[in-house]
Amino acid sequence: MSHQEKIKELSSSLHQEVVSWRQRIHANPELAFKEVETAAFISSILGKYQIEHQKEIAKTGIVALIKGKNPESKCIALRADMDALPIQETNTAPYASKNPGVMHACGHDFHSANLLGVAVILNSLKEEFEGTIKLIFQPSEEKIPSGAEAMIAAGVLENPKVVCIIGQHVSPELPTGSFGFKSGQFMASADELYLKVKGKGGHAAFPNLLVDPVYAAAQIIISLQQILSRKKSPFATAVLSFGKVEALGATNVIPDEVNIAGTLRTMDENFRAEAHQWISQIAEETAKASGASCEVSIVKGNPSLFNDEALSSSCFDWAKAYDADLNIQEIPARMGGEDFAWYSQKIPALFYRVGTGNVEKDSCNGLHTSNFKIDEEAFLHSLGLMSWLALNALKENSINEAK
Ligand code: NI
Repeated sequence: MSHQEKIKELSSSLHQEVVSWRQRIHANPELAFKEVETAAFISSILGKYQIEHQKEIAKTGIVALIKGKNPESKCIALRADMDALPIQETNTAPYASKNPGVMHACGHDFHSANLLGVAVILNSLKEEFEGTIKLIFQPSEEKIPSGAEAMIAAGVLENPKVVCIIGQHVSPELPTGSFGFKSGQFMASADELYLKVKGKGGHAAFPNLLVDPVYAAAQIIISLQQILSRKKSPFATAVLSFGKVEALGATNVIPDEVNIAGTLRTMDENFRAEAHQWISQIAEETAKASGASCEVSIVKGNPSLFNDEALSSSCFDWAKAYDADLNIQEIPARMGGEDFAWYSQKIPALFYRVGTGNVEKDSCNGLHTSNFKIDEEAFLHSLGLMSWLALNALKENSINEAK
């Protein structure tokens, strides 16, 4: 039997067990860096299948190793995230969240259960491949500080040194049986911007006696758009949005200060660094023009996610060769953020999307919504596909050097 056939058979026989793992994780969601029960459960399954692993890396992370023949020859990594979101679930499934106000609404329950299933599949094939596969179960994808950044700082890409890494994310927009790939820049960096504009408040009938921070804030918001229209190369992709403007005055009261919060997202790390300088400079100088002042604070989030071109195109071809019935498609880049980006800034990486949308099962609701659902049939394909990509990446000689 070929590897491909064995993987398909193992995926089918494991499917119900993986579904039960996902439901168990879904029912007990935990927020970033608090994934204690989730990690204990993952460790118990790895233990049951006698898969060597280390716990409590970057607080709650787990790293498992599956060693094939000649394990020193090469090591590749697969990654899943474990954290849930502060959302009250409105679904009524028997395995709906038991933790009030916390929900797996971004599919990280699927990612973790899937990686456990892949671990079992690859472990049962370990006499048949060369090299080592490292499985990374990381905390805190949803929040700053990033769990990926913390895991890298804890050394997960070393000992043994990882030459490439592959991760996946569910997508309710893609039908079950579809997988989306994008070579090159795939997702954006996401930084938080906080501006405090200070003036001198008072009676709105006498603005000539005051320094109006609302007027200054309005000027700043407009002026900052020049970063996109005048400062950015036409070839860089970026978005600047302010979703919060707070001036707690009244019809007849000008407040002392205005607080503004927003996001800068870009696909270009050089532009990102320059934009941080410009944002501070333009906001401060614009405030000064009307006698106000502005304090700018920028909280750096995830970098942009770059899918290595050689790895992406190889994986795309391997995915097509795995099963002709799957819909393997190219998808556009997205301005959303994802902390898998940290790995992609260090070594060749691929992040692809798994279709979990099924109209009949009502699983097309958006990520991060209280009625988000997943079509669990998707495991039948995603278990095998990730295992197959891992074996091919180990075998492929051109994928052997960290950049
Ligand atoms: Ni997510």
